[in-house]
Amino acid sequence: MSECTGSITRPREGADDIDQAGHLDTRGENRRRHALQPDTPVWLFGYGSLIYKVDFPYLECRPARIHGWARRFWQGSHDHRGTPDKPGRVVTLIESPQAECVGMAYRITPDVFDHLDVREKNGYLRFTTALHFNDGDQADGLVYIATADNAAFLGPAPYPAMARQIADSRGPSGHNRDYLLQLAEALRKLGAHDEHVFTLEQMLLDP
Ligand code: SIN
Repeated sequence: MSECTGSITRPREGADDIDQAGHLDTRGENRRRHALQPDTPVWLFGYGSLIYKVDFPYLECRPARIHGWARRFWQGSHDHRGTPDKPGRVVTLIESPQAECVGMAYRITPDVFDHLDVREKNGYLRFTTALHFNDGDQADGLVYIATADNAAFLGPAPYPAMARQIADSRGPSGHNRDYLLQLAEALRKLGAHDEHVFTLEQMLLDP
């Protein structure tokens, strides 16, 4: 696989996550993963577009952080910020024991996952994680992570190559550059410093 493209035809082992058109589709696997009670709200942690593009109803939202995960532009976007032929780059989380990832937590009713699972179907699975709120409170929540074994995973590349790919990609949800710029802005508003995101932003603005 080249550093800037990703095949979406390789199925995740043991997972039924390629639809009839050959596109990655994790909806079925996500539905099977969690037995959510319809009347019991759950926390969802957002760390990428879920911070700034809130196109879903929620009961409450609070800035939060999770420990042991680093935000990286290592996931391919074939359906939102790129196309199957020219995927963009969006964020996923990579296990990193010393890291802390700042984002936004939303308390949602489980029916909201019908919409979110479609939005995140290009490789993201829901995982349980511990959320830490700014006032010291903690709660368990769910988070969408696109792990390295998913067919749309691109992995690391040199910063200039990642910035170029982001600058050059666009898809049904808009320009890939706007995903990066809006995320960087949202992180600043949260008071978060994310070296990886801000380095890419700087390279995009000043190539
Ligand atoms: C997230 O925002 O939590 C997941 C990744 C994305 O949709 O950008």
